[in-house]
Amino acid sequence: MEISVEQFREVQTLVRQLCGLILGDDKTYLVRTRLEHIVQAHGCPNFSEYLNRLQQTTAVRMRDELVEALTTGETSFFRDGHPFEEFRRRILPSLAQTIRQRREIGYPAPVARIWSAGCSTGQEPYSLAMAIQDFVGGNPALELRVENFPILATDVSGKALATAREGRFPGHLVDRGLSSEHRHRFFRAEGNSWTVCEELRRLIEFRRLNLIDRLNIVGQFEVIFCRNVLIYFDATVRQRVCEQFYELLTPGGLLIIGAAESLYRLETPFVTEQLGATTVYRKPAARLSGP
Ligand SMILES: C[S@@+](CC[C@H](N)C(=O)[O-])C[C@H]1O[C@@H](n2cnc3c(N)ncnc32)[C@H](O)[C@@H]1O
Repeated sequence: MEISVEQFREVQTLVRQLCGLILGDDKTYLVRTRLEHIVQAHGCPNFSEYLNRLQQTTAVRMRDELVEALTTGETSFFRDGHPFEEFRRRILPSLAQTIRQRREIGYPAPVARIWSAGCSTGQEPYSLAMAIQDFVGGNPALELRVENFPILATDVSGKALATAREGRFPGHLVDRGLSSEHRHRFFRAEGNSWTVCEELRRLIEFRRLNLIDRLNIVGQFEVIFCRNVLIYFDATVRQRVCEQFYELLTPGGLLIIGAAESLYRLETPFVTEQLGATTVYRKPAARLSGP
């Protein structure tokens, strides 16, 4: 399939508008290989016809399909290890404290909300849910329930979310990052795949959400995981998304991004903190002003 330089530029512009993704000039091959079968499936005789159809106002599904084809959904359970270790070891105890304080001052159903933004096929929110189960189960004296830590998991890709919601993973994906203890406790074998148990699934609400849109509909969070997503955006989009994250965090809340990412050069009031090997970005807690 032939794609001219001008046509490639059109794709670059369109995907940036649609989801913030920056496609480098060296990605012509990727665009060709990922879109060829889609162009054929739509019965378009050439790429030019495909582009024309993409631009029609009613071609919403086609544009979603383009985004799904060009974004990268690479993920794994407990990816990079240490952020989940810090989550279990330091962040959850501090959230438990927040919940206790809220209970004491009369909140009827205190919770600490966690958001996995750009969750792909669900391994990240399921890993968070397993860490929560471990923490709550291991600390009965805290009198907490897993329901005190609800997780919102969102992605722009409806296809990735469908897999996440189904919670069924082939053996080789479960082998990546999942301990045998977690696998046997939270998954059941079905042929060559493993299906997540209801006990984990019910902790997570999966929702389609584009991070470049206004995000104020999602409510407030104590922790936002947005790992290996910002890396695909340019500085302008990263800045806008991080500003929104800042607004959506409660005072003292944390933003956790990928190991290869940073907020370097962005102008945000986040304060950087080191939790073991994990760098986190904290929204400063509100200070009580004196009389
Ligand atoms: C590389 S995966 C990261 C998955 C997971 N957070 C992790 O670190 O393992 C990037 C995900 O970001 C999603 N994504 C890309 N652009 C997005 C946008 N504008 N809004 C929401 N999700 C987006 C992609 O669909 C993909 O599932």
